[in-house]
Amino acid sequence: MSDAMVQMQTLDYRAILQNTTLRTDAFLRNFIASRQGVPALLKESIEYSLFGPGKRVRPALAILCAQAVDGTIDEALPAAAALELIHCFSLVHDDLPAMDNDDLRRGRPTNHKVYGDAVAILAGDAMNTMAFELLAECVADPSMAVKLSLELSRATGPAGMIGGQILDTCYPQLKHVDSQAADLESLQRIHRLKTGALIRAACRMGGIAARASADQLQILDDLGQAVGLVFQIVDDLLDVTSSDAHLGKKTGKDADIGKLTYPVLLGVEQTRAELTRQQKLAEHALAQLGPAAEPLSVVVHALASRDK
Ligand code: IPE
Ligand code: IPE
Ligand code: MG
Ligand code: MG
Ligand code: MG
Repeated sequence: MSDAMVQMQTLDYRAILQNTTLRTDAFLRNFIASRQGVPALLKESIEYSLFGPGKRVRPALAILCAQAVDGTIDEALPAAAALELIHCFSLVHDDLPAMDNDDLRRGRPTNHKVYGDAVAILAGDAMNTMAFELLAECVADPSMAVKLSLELSRATGPAGMIGGQILDTCYPQLKHVDSQAADLESLQRIHRLKTGALIRAACRMGGIAARASADQLQILDDLGQAVGLVFQIVDDLLDVTSSDAHLGKKTGKDADIGKLTYPVLLGVEQTRAELTRQQKLAEHALAQLGPAAEPLSVVVHALASRDK
């Protein structure tokens, strides 16, 4: 690829994400502003994490997957906003002392460092419930609201992100006493659940919101599964290869606290090979979509080579 093409892809990627982020944030701001009776401290803590400088990858995937099957941004916005609420809830809880015990997130002190553990726990709980309130309230067609809620609750719940977080969190203590072996199968299970489930749901929910056909939805599902693994493999690599200042979160700690990650299990070189393998699976899915999937394709490529 020529330098000019690389530059064009970078520009496109930023412009696409800027647009999906602006629309998602405006939707979320309206939604939060219209909530009545929320105690001020809780609202402040929610807004601190929800409107922090995140990449808004899951909303972008939902919107771009809807557009890839000829849907509109408006159709996908409730799904996009609900996904970001769940993601932000997961980050606030992930950083708690009882979990990853992190002080830095998105270049700023973590929620519990600013508001204390109790408020952070409750802000996470509130964002979790608000995601479903948003779908019930903002999706005009009730049967569509139910479909999207089912998708999001399964991806978030005990057989989704939360299930993955418990395997990830307990792995350092359980690996000697439970069946959690340090092997590729266990690692992929953790990744698929803790990060993959929500990314897969983002792709599927975009398709569902745009009333994709069963065949199109299967392609988006395959894409979401590959992108989910790509995303967490890169996250694990960045923990080893990047810096706190660049990433806006603490690096170099996965191995220290005994987490099962690709670089820990396979080393950096083999991890890059697995990344390439998953990237090819994502490309295979993208190739089955038409020209409306071009922006999605640009963003998926950029995610695999991201440095943040
Ligand atoms: C970080 O997610 C946590 C993972 C699931 C890997 P992101 O890298 O999407 O975090 P933000 O939203 O951009 O801060
Ligand atoms: C987080 O995985 C997955 C979540 C569900 C939040 P990590 O613990 O690796 O995410 P970071 O590195 O703290 O963002
Ligand atoms: Mg974690
Ligand atoms: Mg963490
Ligand atoms: Mg990480």
